[in-house]
Amino acid sequence: MAQRLYLFCLFLSLSLFFTLSINQAVPAIFVLGDSLVDVGNNNYLPLSLAKANFPHNGVDLPGKPLGRFSNGKNAADFLAMKLRIPTSPPYLSFTSAPNKSEAFLKGVSFASGGAGILDETSVGILKGTKTDETMNATRLGILGSINDLIRRSITFNQQIEYLSIVQGELVRQLGNEAAQNYLSKSLFVIVIGSNDILGYFDPSPTAPPKSNPQQFVDSLTLSLTGQLKKIYDLGARKFFVAGVTAIGCCPSQRNQNKTGGCNEEANYWSARLNEGVKSMLQGMQSELKDMKYSYSDTFGILLQFIQKPSNYGFVEVASACCGLGKNNAEIPCIPISQYCPNRRDHVFWDLYHPTEAAYSIFADIVFDGPKQFVFPVNVKQLVTM
Ligand SMILES: *[C@@H]1O[C@H](CO)[C@@H](O)[C@H](O)[C@H]1NC(C)=O
Ligand SMILES: *[C@@H]1O[C@H](CO)[C@@H](O)[C@H](O)[C@H]1NC(C)=O
Ligand SMILES: *[C@@H]1O[C@H](CO)[C@@H](O)[C@H](O)[C@H]1NC(C)=O
Repeated sequence: MAQRLYLFCLFLSLSLFFTLSINQAVPAIFVLGDSLVDVGNNNYLPLSLAKANFPHNGVDLPGKPLGRFSNGKNAADFLAMKLRIPTSPPYLSFTSAPNKSEAFLKGVSFASGGAGILDETSVGILKGTKTDETMNATRLGILGSINDLIRRSITFNQQIEYLSIVQGELVRQLGNEAAQNYLSKSLFVIVIGSNDILGYFDPSPTAPPKSNPQQFVDSLTLSLTGQLKKIYDLGARKFFVAGVTAIGCCPSQRNQNKTGGCNEEANYWSARLNEGVKSMLQGMQSELKDMKYSYSDTFGILLQFIQKPSNYGFVEVASACCGLGKNNAEIPCIPISQYCPNRRDHVFWDLYHPTEAAYSIFADIVFDGPKQFVFPVNVKQLVTM
């Protein structure tokens, strides 16, 4: 009996130890990226139309739409829940707060819908508008200015600038050594690249002529390499980097295929970008010994959802839940659009973004999943390293 009690206590203290060590391993999460992890930064951009703080976004959240491109929570929320800390709030919600240094100690999100690796990547309602010969220079000019307006998002480079402001505040508050220690234990979530690929295959009418796709993808990898090194130089040591998904399978891209299948070209180049990013990460880790990362094969995860939907509780893998027209993807999810009652069984919420259900399963896999989908380690392993 005493021995049992002893074992029981040992078990209890071990579980407590592991629970605590997860909590202490990650003092904070810093999120950089695009709409897949934006928790409301774009609400603070007065001129941006790349927003989600209107119905029917957030229909499954209590209260008003909060600026997430989803019917409910998104990947940033679920990752934070896995690590048992609150979702890092939008950086722009603190710019004038007197206690912002205090807030920064709990982690912040710089992610912004529409952001891409390249500053010129844009996203907006004009995407997909085909340039036709009858469009004269005046009209193109007007469309260009509108597009400038609606593509306003915090570029990835600007997000890194904001991170350096936060780092400066932390150094001021904690001193150099403690700030470095804090940042080195924090998790840096990086979700970027989808909008660059979408912009290439679905250009705005005024986009400048593009290089060939291989050159384009190489330029993305090169740019991302420099950007991740900057983040490392600011003190980050633990990176979770999400690969770009099978973008050709999102409802907007399926609509460009007469048979309703995925846009294979967009998928091919998404996969090429992922190859570049994977070898870049390997190279970074062998060059910078104290850098650790976890990379998710987001592409492979989406293909699993599409190929074996019932394994994940999905029924509809092609059409968006919220929108209008073919695949509910000709009109985005705006207040006049319709939305489906059965959100749990849809992979896609709108023409580009997953449902809360899909985000949640994605987070389960990257947190605790097998090497097939997340490597060289999963996020749970990364945070306790
Ligand atoms: C910052 O101050 C406001 C009130 O001035 C408070 O509501 C908020 O919780 C504070 N944030 C943090 C992170 O301390
Ligand atoms: C361009 O098109 C607009 C309307 O489509 C028309 O009003 C304008 O006169 C045209 N400009 C030229 C220079 O052809
Ligand atoms: C369209 O989808 C089909 C599968 O339904 C696929 O075989 C084909 O390659 C796709 N076409 C393009 C242009 O992506």
